[in-house]
Amino acid sequence: MKTHYKHEKTLVIVKPDGVQRSLVGEIVKRFERSGLKLVALKMLISDPAHIEKHYTLDPNWRRVTGEKTIAHYRAKGMAPPSEDPLVITDRVLKALMKYMTSGPVVAMVWQGAHAVKIVRKLAGGTEPLSSDVGTIRGDYVIDSYEMSDTDGRSLRNLIHASGSPEEAKAEIAHWFSSDELHSYSLVQEQILYDVNFDGTRE
Ligand code: CMP
Repeated sequence: MKTHYKHEKTLVIVKPDGVQRSLVGEIVKRFERSGLKLVALKMLISDPAHIEKHYTLDPNWRRVTGEKTIAHYRAKGMAPPSEDPLVITDRVLKALMKYMTSGPVVAMVWQGAHAVKIVRKLAGGTEPLSSDVGTIRGDYVIDSYEMSDTDGRSLRNLIHASGSPEEAKAEIAHWFSSDELHSYSLVQEQILYDVNFDGTRE
């Protein structure tokens, strides 16, 4: 039997720039008020090997990240820093290992129907310059591919969010042990999911 939608989980990491900008509370608030349930949360300082493993858990990540960067440059009528997606990603990964270990991060797991897509929608697109107004990246930060590539550093986009439920499973296992994940129900889940909800009239 298919597990209910409400069991979908996703990983969010508030990156070092999000912690330094004092945006942890604001970011948690945006996910919390969507109806998703917080099931794990911790602050830690990661190390380069852990970050490399995190980004390469998905065998397609190198190709997709390079292609996404090239497409963004083309859409703006600009030449990308390289025509080879893997050359771009090599640089990105090195920069990420430095950036993501530069200070504490806050890792959390959010659970609920369509958790992966809902979190990605609230986070906004990877590049803050083009992410929509109203999203976390669109509202709170101003970085661009052009600026980060010129300066040879990682794009500072406040948060990481898993790309698919399968990716989320692997990423959650990489950041959390099973006893750090909490299984509990929220009273609000009745109005979100209960087909027999009887109402609140007294
Ligand atoms: P995230 O959602 O964590 O996934 C990969 C990260 O790599 C991304 O956010 C950015 O922080 C970073 N990134 C992706 N593409 C580039 C790029 N072209 N230049 C610098 N950083 C990048």
